[in-house]
Amino acid sequence: MSDWVRVCATSELLPGEMKVVWAGDTPICVFNYDGDYYALEDRCSHEDFELSAGCFDPEAATIECVLHGSRFDVRDGRALNPPAYVPVAKFPVKVEDGAVWTRDDRD
Ligand code: FES
Repeated sequence: MSDWVRVCATSELLPGEMKVVWAGDTPICVFNYDGDYYALEDRCSHEDFELSAGCFDPEAATIECVLHGSRFDVRDGRALNPPAYVPVAKFPVKVEDGAVWTRDDRD
Protein backbone atom coordinates (compact mmCIF):
# COMPACT_ATOMS: atom_id res chain seq x y z
CA MET A 1 0.00 0.00 0.00
CA SER A 2 1.40 3.43 -0.91
CA ASP A 3 0.86 6.85 0.63
CA TRP A 4 -1.23 9.42 -1.20
CA VAL A 5 0.66 10.84 -4.16
CA ARG A 6 0.05 14.29 -5.56
CA VAL A 7 -0.87 14.02 -9.24
CA CYS A 8 -1.09 17.71 -10.14
CA ALA A 9 -3.12 20.85 -9.49
CA THR A 10 -6.79 20.45 -10.40
CA SER A 11 -6.26 23.17 -13.03
CA GLU A 12 -3.75 20.88 -14.78
CA LEU A 13 -6.17 17.99 -15.24
CA LEU A 14 -9.18 19.30 -17.10
CA PRO A 15 -12.18 17.31 -18.37
CA GLY A 16 -11.01 14.96 -21.12
CA GLU A 17 -7.39 14.90 -19.89
CA MET A 18 -5.33 12.19 -18.20
CA LYS A 19 -2.03 12.07 -16.36
CA VAL A 20 0.28 9.32 -15.17
CA VAL A 21 1.88 9.30 -11.75
CA TRP A 22 3.87 6.70 -9.83
CA ALA A 23 2.75 5.55 -6.41
CA GLY A 24 5.71 3.52 -5.18
CA ASP A 25 6.22 0.90 -7.90
CA THR A 26 2.74 1.32 -9.34
CA PRO A 27 2.07 3.45 -12.39
CA ILE A 28 -1.37 5.08 -12.08
CA CYS A 29 -3.32 6.77 -14.83
CA VAL A 30 -5.67 9.48 -13.55
CA PHE A 31 -8.56 10.67 -15.71
CA ASN A 32 -10.86 13.65 -15.61
CA TYR A 33 -14.14 12.40 -16.99
CA ASP A 34 -16.71 15.17 -17.12
CA GLY A 35 -15.33 16.87 -14.01
CA ASP A 36 -14.94 13.70 -11.94
CA TYR A 37 -11.57 12.05 -11.32
CA TYR A 38 -10.85 8.34 -11.69
CA ALA A 39 -7.64 6.36 -11.33
CA LEU A 40 -6.65 3.03 -12.87
CA GLU A 41 -3.42 1.11 -12.88
CA ASP A 42 -1.52 2.11 -16.02
CA ARG A 43 -1.22 -1.49 -17.09
CA CYS A 44 -3.42 -3.33 -19.54
CA SER A 45 -4.75 -6.56 -18.03
CA HIS A 46 -4.08 -8.40 -21.28
CA GLU A 47 -0.30 -8.18 -21.68
CA ASP A 48 0.87 -5.58 -19.16
CA PHE A 49 1.12 -2.79 -21.72
CA GLU A 50 0.85 0.89 -20.71
CA LEU A 51 -2.75 1.98 -21.04
CA SER A 52 -1.68 5.62 -21.11
CA ALA A 53 -0.09 5.05 -24.52
CA GLY A 54 -3.62 4.63 -25.84
CA CYS A 55 -6.49 6.95 -26.42
CA PHE A 56 -8.79 8.30 -23.69
CA ASP A 57 -12.26 8.84 -25.14
CA PRO A 58 -13.83 11.50 -22.90
CA GLU A 59 -17.27 11.03 -24.44
CA ALA A 60 -17.44 7.30 -23.77
CA ALA A 61 -15.35 7.31 -20.54
CA THR A 62 -13.06 4.66 -22.01
CA ILE A 63 -9.39 4.14 -22.66
CA GLU A 64 -8.29 1.94 -25.52
CA CYS A 65 -5.13 -0.12 -25.28
CA VAL A 66 -2.97 0.74 -28.23
CA LEU A 67 -1.48 -2.75 -28.48
CA HIS A 68 -4.52 -4.97 -29.25
CA GLY A 69 -7.49 -2.62 -28.96
CA SER A 70 -9.20 -3.65 -25.73
CA ARG A 71 -11.16 -0.81 -24.18
CA PHE A 72 -11.68 -0.25 -20.45
CA ASP A 73 -14.21 1.84 -18.59
CA VAL A 74 -12.15 4.49 -16.78
CA ARG A 75 -14.77 4.68 -14.00
CA ASP A 76 -14.35 1.10 -12.78
CA GLY A 77 -11.62 -0.53 -14.86
CA ARG A 78 -13.80 -3.22 -16.42
CA ALA A 79 -12.75 -4.62 -19.80
CA LEU A 80 -15.30 -3.86 -22.50
CA ASN A 81 -13.97 -6.00 -25.35
CA PRO A 82 -11.45 -8.80 -26.01
CA PRO A 83 -8.68 -9.72 -25.94
CA ALA A 84 -8.70 -8.40 -22.35
CA TYR A 85 -11.31 -9.90 -20.00
CA VAL A 86 -9.89 -9.07 -16.57
CA PRO A 87 -10.54 -5.62 -15.10
CA VAL A 88 -7.71 -3.15 -14.54
CA ALA A 89 -7.10 -2.21 -10.89
CA LYS A 90 -9.00 0.91 -9.77
CA PHE A 91 -7.56 3.24 -7.17
CA PRO A 92 -9.01 5.99 -4.97
CA VAL A 93 -8.76 9.66 -5.90
CA LYS A 94 -9.23 12.71 -3.69
CA VAL A 95 -9.09 16.46 -4.21
CA GLU A 96 -7.31 18.37 -1.44
CA ASP A 97 -5.48 21.69 -1.29
CA GLY A 98 -6.39 22.41 -4.90
CA ALA A 99 -4.68 19.27 -6.12
CA VAL A 100 -5.61 15.76 -7.27
CA TRP A 101 -4.22 12.84 -5.25
CA THR A 102 -4.23 9.08 -5.66
CA ARG A 103 -2.71 6.01 -4.04
CA ASP A 104 -2.26 2.29 -4.54
CA ASP A 105 -4.57 1.01 -1.79
CA ARG A 106 -3.84 -2.68 -2.32
CA ASP A 107 -2.09 -4.64 0.42
S1 FES B 1 -1.89 -5.52 -24.22
FE1 FES B 1 -3.70 -4.34 -24.11
S2 FES B 1 -5.11 -5.35 -25.41
FE2 FES B 1 -3.32 -6.55 -25.51
